[in-house]
Amino acid sequence: MKIKGLFLVSGLLILSVLLNGFRSESELSKLMRTMANDMKRVRVKVQKGEKVPMFYKKYHRINTAKPSVESKKGERYPEYANAFLIQLDRFGKAEKVDQKSEYNNLVKTCIRCHETYCPGPISMLKKLQLP
Ligand code: HEC
Repeated sequence: MKIKGLFLVSGLLILSVLLNGFRSESELSKLMRTMANDMKRVRVKVQKGEKVPMFYKKYHRINTAKPSVESKKGERYPEYANAFLIQLDRFGKAEKVDQKSEYNNLVKTCIRCHETYCPGPISMLKKLQLP
């Protein structure tokens, strides 16, 4: 009985390690996922005309975070990343009346990079824009 239990426990352990291995995602994917979640919350705040807290210190890792495939960080990546960070700063400093347009400009900088390096999430990114 005891031995069987031991086999069961170690079997489950091995299985979970394997599953985690298959699900392992890149550093950049993780950062992007965080950014997307933050943006969904920020969108609601901007829509309501509420003040947006400083949420983006960690985004500077966009430059250094490892992608799943090296080719996803091509020649023009640094230029797009820089445009994004500059717009992030503008959005953070925007007066209330400009908050919505600066927010939409920010989403555009997400989309611009994605058009070249990662088209998958574009339709989701478009939904982040405010009318
Ligand atoms: C400078 C280029 C660039 C900018 C700017 C950028 N992205 Fe990305 N994004 C990427 C790349 C490249 C990947 C693929 C990452 C990988 O495969 O490792 C990605 C992946 C993603 C993913 C999929 C993550 C996953 O694996 O599940 C989401 C969602 C995402 N980005 C959202 C955003 C949002 C929201 C913004 C703006 C706030 C943004 N991105 C700005 C380049 C960019």
